[in-house]
Amino acid sequence: MTDSQSVRDTGDSTDVVILGAGPAGLVLANLLLDAGVGCVVLERADREHVQTRARAGFLAANTVRVLERHGLADGLRRGGREHSVCEFRTGDGRFRLDYSGLGRGEPHTVYPQQELVTDLLTRFLAAGGDLRFATEAVAVHDPDTTQPWVETRDADGRPGRWTGRYVAGCDGRHGAARRSLPPGAVRIHRRDHGVSWLGLLAEAPPSLDAVGYAMHERGFAGHMARTPETTRYYLQCEPGTSPASWSEERIWDELTVRMRAADYGALHHGRIVQSTVVDLESDVLEPLRHGSLFLAGDAAGLISPSAAKGANLAVLAAEILAEALVDDLRNADPGPLSRYSARCLAHIWRAQEFSLWMIRLLHRAPGQDDEALFQEQLRRARVESLRTSRTHQDWFADNYVGI
Ligand code: APR
Repeated sequence: MTDSQSVRDTGDSTDVVILGAGPAGLVLANLLLDAGVGCVVLERADREHVQTRARAGFLAANTVRVLERHGLADGLRRGGREHSVCEFRTGDGRFRLDYSGLGRGEPHTVYPQQELVTDLLTRFLAAGGDLRFATEAVAVHDPDTTQPWVETRDADGRPGRWTGRYVAGCDGRHGAARRSLPPGAVRIHRRDHGVSWLGLLAEAPPSLDAVGYAMHERGFAGHMARTPETTRYYLQCEPGTSPASWSEERIWDELTVRMRAADYGALHHGRIVQSTVVDLESDVLEPLRHGSLFLAGDAAGLISPSAAKGANLAVLAAEILAEALVDDLRNADPGPLSRYSARCLAHIWRAQEFSLWMIRLLHRAPGQDDEALFQEQLRRARVESLRTSRTHQDWFADNYVGI
């Protein structure tokens, strides 16, 4: 009897084995628990890490609706702040768009992801949910059967396993779910956008009452409030840049120049507590299902942070998948599950399209050749149309907040 066979035969089982305790995995888990569907969440990291990992925090109106619909919005209602203004700064001046009066008139809600994740897992555990921290999913076995199983390893390296009727891969881009897909099972659409950002978290109050998008000949700069005491900044940098090569002084000097602080007001400085380089790239898996293995969130596809869609797509997919799993496991209706992939991909591709539009709005095409100079004129026309055309502003608002 092989090790994996002994692991399989001696393990636990449930209806749905969920890999990953991020927004996708935790929304899915809470909804399945509420519907009385058995599930377990396997999370590689420990609770402290999951609850303190600062990532996104810009929730679309639909995400707030989903969380409210399922009683998951208490923390968000207490600590979230509605937000609806973008400020664009260019060499030709600046303009603001208050999108609460554009398109469908919906705002974003600023609520740090680590606080949302903490709310979701606290609620899941308080309701009797089974969440295994420090339990890594090593591989998903037999996904094309009605008894897929997940090989696991705990913090001490001890092997284990969980069998389910279904496995939900919500373990991100580098997780076990993607790794366990047989060759040719899905197609991966990829695009490297050729742009990199230095992603910064500063212990400084926001300097604008808006999301700031600065388009400067030295490169893009972005300003996003996170809390009254912390601000996320982005600085376009050379691909392959090491974060350590940017001192705090150099960061604030460059932000000051690109945000045109001399014209529009000084930035509040503070300690830089997080500095990472993000290469803007996207990928989309198709289909989002292989037999009894489903993919949601970043495991289904990576989207660049240019339009703050990642966490919102994760929550949307989690609700669609949860309702479809309940229909199958509780109501013996496999229809919605068979439509899960197509429904999610329609939202994902729309978000990818807008995310690329934002990349082309905010960044100059590299180089000085004819193509680059032509693209630059197109980019300037895009900015000018956004500044002056109400129709374009409505389209922008619907896609910026919509998901
Ligand atoms: N086994 C168990 N857990 C794993 C494994 C594994 N092999 N690999 C990764 N994980 C866990 C990670 O530790 C993480 O907690 O899976 C979780 C995935 O969570 P997220 O990365 O937040 O992914 P998702 O829920 O899809 O949300 C993605 O959130 O932060 C935003 O913009 C970001 O788009 C992203 C979105």
